[in-house]
Amino acid sequence: MAILPILVAPHPVLKAKAAPVETVDDGVRALMDDMLETMYAAPGIGLAAPQVGVSRRIVVLDVAGKDEPPAPMCLVNPEVIWESEDLNTYEEGCLSVPKQYAEVERPAQVKVRFLDREGAKREIEADGILATCVQHEIDHLDGTLFIDYLSALKRNMILRKVKKEQQRADD
Ligand code: NI
Repeated sequence: MAILPILVAPHPVLKAKAAPVETVDDGVRALMDDMLETMYAAPGIGLAAPQVGVSRRIVVLDVAGKDEPPAPMCLVNPEVIWESEDLNTYEEGCLSVPKQYAEVERPAQVKVRFLDREGAKREIEADGILATCVQHEIDHLDGTLFIDYLSALKRNMILRKVKKEQQRADD
């Protein structure tokens, strides 16, 4: 297992549509293990493969609370197959938009179809923080970041702040 470097916005890989995975093989499982390690180290609750420079439809997440045992999830080729009409607002952040947070409104419940670590077809119903997190991560596979839901003014302000932080870190 290895901790992978996380791409920071704006980066072309973060804006690209990721390719579907054809076979869930050992290479995919190794990548998911590295992504989980990277996510826990960050720390974060979700990570999509494009964020580590791999433009494939793979997501890992763990929304367990601080006092709960870890509950890692690996989703290959995830797709939202149903979403509720009622919406939920969460203050979202993203490891590719470090230290920036903003409220985003999304469907409160979703059904998601995906392949698990063994390549078996699965479906889950998600609500609460899991629903938000899984939608945020699937967005990454289509080149969408949470800041894309904000006004251009707000988005550019956040991108400027991120750029400043990165330059400071490089000094
Ligand atoms: Ni993100």
